[in-house]
Amino acid sequence: MAFDSIDDVQTALAAEGYVCPRPLATVVFLALRLGRPLFLEGEAGTGKTEIAKALSAALGRRLIRLQCYEGLDASSAVYEWNFAAQMIAIRSAEAAGGTDAASLRADLFADDFLIERPLLQALRPQPGGAPVLLIDEIDRTDAPFEAFLLEALSDFQVTIPERGTIKAPTPPIVILTSNRTREVHDALKRRCLYHWVDYPDFDRELDILHARAPEAAETLSREVVAFVQRLRTEDLFKTPGVAETIDWAKCLLALDVIDLSPAVIADTLGALLKYQDDIRKIEGSKAKQILDEARAAIPA
Ligand SMILES: Nc1ncnc2c1ncn2[C@@H]1O[C@H](COP(=O)(O)OP(=O)(O)O)[C@@H](O)[C@H]1O
Ligand SMILES: [Mg+2]
Repeated sequence: MAFDSIDDVQTALAAEGYVCPRPLATVVFLALRLGRPLFLEGEAGTGKTEIAKALSAALGRRLIRLQCYEGLDASSAVYEWNFAAQMIAIRSAEAAGGTDAASLRADLFADDFLIERPLLQALRPQPGGAPVLLIDEIDRTDAPFEAFLLEALSDFQVTIPERGTIKAPTPPIVILTSNRTREVHDALKRRCLYHWVDYPDFDRELDILHARAPEAAETLSREVVAFVQRLRTEDLFKTPGVAETIDWAKCLLALDVIDLSPAVIADTLGALLKYQDDIRKIEGSKAKQILDEARAAIPA
């Protein structure tokens, strides 16, 4: 399945519960059309990882995720040989006797001993078509790994010395995300189409809440979204993302809350704010002030 228009992208993602603003849908459409990787940058909890999941579901493609972390290296990202299993194979060949060195060598580098990591998996043909390759939180890795990725994304092939070169018959659909804890190098960004994923506005966040917590009553949903929107204008160490809005609404539902009050907010603030300093700043009279202002700002 392919998308014929930007509207198509929005509709297909909506069917997967993903609320996709038009600028984001446009860049997704173009990335697919031009076969370019898509680089999504933005604050945590703004729906960057989620769009890769929704897109793979909408296209009926397999999702392959490479979660980045400090110290991630090529062997954990592409492939490794299963040394332990190779050792066992050598021992049993020795015990059985008779196996010549050349055939043993060939056996040791067979598929059985190859551990495929996400980047190699993404080059393999998949039943529904080329997979969606999510390279998540690239800002957590270092410059050498970025340089390595740049090369991998330019030719979609991997050389395994013992086996030769493996090339993707069709390149995967690549989505890279960054929470911008550091700047990612220009060279990598230039290879991609870029989009900054911002916090949603009131209407869009309400749409997201409808999609993700449909059991919440309309009045409560509107108050929750208005409160979080207003809270984001405060000077906080960690501003709550959309994920926190959804979590908070679910907590309030679990407590059978019908509408917000300063007391309820104080009891459940841990769903929204994850740093003690932020919580201390918002507790008490500040919460009441934000709630009053948020209520006043709810669109009719
Ligand atoms: N546009 C959206 N439509 C639907 N759900 C969304 C949207 N944006 C965020 N979410 C919700 O917020 C959660 C966190 O989003 P996620 O993609 O993990 O954020 P991040 O940008 O940090 O990768 C998701 O699991 C999803 O439930
Ligand atoms: Mg993420």
